[in-house]
Amino acid sequence: MEHAREIYAVDGSSDDPLEQWLDPSSAWRVRALERAIRTRLTEAATHASVEELVEGLSSLAAFYYVTLFSVVRDLTVPFRTSNPTWVKTTGKSVRADWRLITRGFARAARLLADRLEADQIGRSASSVISIADAASLPLPRASIGAVISSPPYATRIDYVVATRPELAVLSVQSGQPMSSLRNAMLGTPTMTSPAQDAKIPWLLMSDTASRFLGQVAAHRSKASAGYYSRYFEQYFRGLASAVSEMTRVCTEDAPIALVVQDSYYKEVRLDLAAVLREMLTATGRSTFQEKSFSTGTRAATNPKVREYRSTFKARETLLLAVP
Ligand SMILES: C[S@@+](CC[C@H](N)C(=O)[O-])C[C@H]1O[C@@H](n2cnc3c(N)ncnc32)[C@H](O)[C@@H]1O
Repeated sequence: MEHAREIYAVDGSSDDPLEQWLDPSSAWRVRALERAIRTRLTEAATHASVEELVEGLSSLAAFYYVTLFSVVRDLTVPFRTSNPTWVKTTGKSVRADWRLITRGFARAARLLADRLEADQIGRSASSVISIADAASLPLPRASIGAVISSPPYATRIDYVVATRPELAVLSVQSGQPMSSLRNAMLGTPTMTSPAQDAKIPWLLMSDTASRFLGQVAAHRSKASAGYYSRYFEQYFRGLASAVSEMTRVCTEDAPIALVVQDSYYKEVRLDLAAVLREMLTATGRSTFQEKSFSTGTRAATNPKVREYRSTFKARETLLLAVP
């Protein structure tokens, strides 16, 4: 392990993003494990980008990375907030000795192995995992036989903040790399540009989305005509780009299965399944099947939300576009 400490120091990784929550010696221990996975099980260079690391990752290396994600998730429990997607940084750190880390690692590896065993995953199929922006897929036209997806809902979840511990394991620094990633996310609560000049492709704009944008803009509550109108417009724009890209890469008879959830702006409901149905219709799809079920949300824990609504159930829908 002294050897690993040397590698760590030579790499100059003292600004390790794991130190957002772990004290330097604990961060070093986790990093030593990560470096062991990286050097023994991947061909990526020490300073390879996340994309370079993940592209071509073997199942075995992916297994141990996911195991390490789980260890770090557990270590960051004291930094959770009432918002389940938020892991805060407080300037304080936790300490984890080797015993705690290796036990956690062994436990997480066992749990993951059990899950893979129970799901029979990987028995008969091979898979390739690639990273790309849904709005710009590196795939030729009409080359895909089916799509299964669940795009971000219009609930302002910040998926980059939500996966901070995992991104830290992958050495993604907070600051600029993190903000670029946030800005690239569909549904990001950050505004990527003040007001977009480019027109939303009219073909993909849905009546439900237009009506909803009008209701938000006219809402009496603060920032409705400002930030929130711009946020939802940016969201629909991103969604339209993803739908357009998805249908470009699909063959005409490819089934498209999308799981979405409705949401509310104050008391105004956004029927996201209807928005996607209308966007897909605009791209030439005409036959749909839908299955919806009710699911709980955490909106009731927010007292401000109770001013506008008395029900906090959401509707989850599987929308299936069939040939
Ligand atoms: C509703 S969640 C679906 C999660 C998925 N069912 C799973 O189990 O991982 C939406 C996902 O879309 C991803 N996402 C956000 N913006 C994206 C983009 N521009 N391109 C591709 N994926 C994106 C988020 O990171 C998040 O994992």
